[in-house]
Amino acid sequence: MKKTWFKELSVYQIWPRSFCDGNGDGIGDLKGVLGKLDYIKSLGVDAIWFSPLYVSPQKDYGYDIADYRNIAPEYGTMDDFKAVLEGAHARGLKVVMDLVVNHTSDQHEWFKKSAAGDPKYKDYYIWRPGKGKDGKKFPNNWMATFPGDGWQWNEQRGEYYLHLFAVEQPDLNHDNPAVREEVKSIMRFWLDMGVDGFREDVITYISKREGLPNGFPLPVMRGMEHYSPGPNIHKYLLEYRQVLKDYDAFQLGEAPMMTPENALKYITEGDNQQLDMMFQFQTMEADCFIVSYIRTKFNLLKLKRVYKNWQTKLYGKAWNTNYLENHDQPRIISRYGDEKNYRVESGKALATMYTFMSGTHFIYQGQEIGMTDYPFKDWSDFTDVATFSAKRLMEKTHLFSKKKLFENCAYAARDNARTPVQWNAEENAGFTTGTPWFHINPNYKDINVAAAEADEDSLLNYYRAILALRKQYKDAAIYGRYEEKLGRNKHIMAYDKIADDGSRLTVIINLSSKTVSARGARKCVPKGAVRLIGTYKWSLADMMKPYEAHVYYTAAPQAKQ
Ligand code: NOJ
Repeated sequence: MKKTWFKELSVYQIWPRSFCDGNGDGIGDLKGVLGKLDYIKSLGVDAIWFSPLYVSPQKDYGYDIADYRNIAPEYGTMDDFKAVLEGAHARGLKVVMDLVVNHTSDQHEWFKKSAAGDPKYKDYYIWRPGKGKDGKKFPNNWMATFPGDGWQWNEQRGEYYLHLFAVEQPDLNHDNPAVREEVKSIMRFWLDMGVDGFREDVITYISKREGLPNGFPLPVMRGMEHYSPGPNIHKYLLEYRQVLKDYDAFQLGEAPMMTPENALKYITEGDNQQLDMMFQFQTMEADCFIVSYIRTKFNLLKLKRVYKNWQTKLYGKAWNTNYLENHDQPRIISRYGDEKNYRVESGKALATMYTFMSGTHFIYQGQEIGMTDYPFKDWSDFTDVATFSAKRLMEKTHLFSKKKLFENCAYAARDNARTPVQWNAEENAGFTTGTPWFHINPNYKDINVAAAEADEDSLLNYYRAILALRKQYKDAAIYGRYEEKLGRNKHIMAYDKIADDGSRLTVIINLSSKTVSARGARKCVPKGAVRLIGTYKWSLADMMKPYEAHVYYTAAPQAKQ
């Protein structure tokens, strides 16, 4: 497998609104980021990915962009951004921007002109007349991803427009060559400034089937088979790919519902490659059924199958990404770990699980200190449009009692990941000197960066140590071949990562709150292996304690002689 700088990165994701407030207005900003660059560097990561920083009415917290070439005033100015970019580069940190071009905000000037029928912009979006005698019926039966109708009537234009997300996020018409030129020009704008790559928001949705036929009558995401993917997706992505020829940068596509087989159509290395890697969602589905608010018990066997699939099917052909959290996912310890009894241990076990897999590695702000979900009590506690639309849809189905519906939505809420980062035990967790824009998790007195810095055994220091090991043993950890062990064990995850020279890392983790037999696990440790790190100080004994994790290293056969 070709070795490339971006394959080796560990990327720290910043969701700017909740990272750190530098000017006391209660909202995270670029000044706040600037002050934390040394902290970010100290983690041992190599890059920062910024969720959207652009001008936006913030209906979907930045994923509704009104101006692709300017910074949202609440986050600072373009000069502030340039200072962060320079500061990051000076510390050897790459900078990745979010490219959100499936849709814009309805406040983007393109949309305003399109609604007004301006000839240049009239086909920038997907407009259709209403159907039926009164001309008011939807053009088709598609639904938006945030549960609800996929169409919105626009009085000025006298037509419906398609929106696959919120009503305020009209979908761009990528079939229009002028729109594709705009996308390329936005990419060049940021690349010329010196950014090192893009995370491309729901990029697999940008092509829609001609004629926009009705979708299969499903209760959620109806119509998806006609745009995920659409007929011209590979053509358009290849076109956008051309832009990168002039830069040393990478493209990462967000890809809901993606399987390894389909991913290979986008990311197989070679002339037809359209993206460098993708964010798949399957590893985030071990505690739910298709959509996050239909909850199931955490199922390690399901998770292991998914990892094995992606690790082995892409091996030698294409590149993986590995993440446990982001701004759309609740906190991982609250989902796959045990927040109540083994917060730190389960955090370490989960960190160990994914850090030695092949792929570019991602950490979301606060994950490194083991932040947990917010204790939501009432619907008024939420702020995210996705939660309210899920509530509306689920109410219609009558599938759940009121109480269960609330619990499910609270469990799945993206707001869990969006509470401010807890920096210290002082007022507002050190996030702001003003009034925080959103709730601060009441556990901040115990869970915060300052406390984690002071504790040698903290999750934070564990992340630092395993990130260093990932680099030190990169031929096995980053590029090695994945071999699953104990595939049918419901509590233990174990695998080898084998480098080309035969050296290997062996990872063994009890991913449960139970003490389990270590008999099978012990057999996985090769003779002569050296233990590198683990969640507890001891070596593998007869029993494995809850969330006990180990990483062993075995040198290459010839090196042993
Ligand atoms: C995926 C983003 O990660 C999410 O936050 C956003 O709401 C949707 N795409 C729409 O842009």
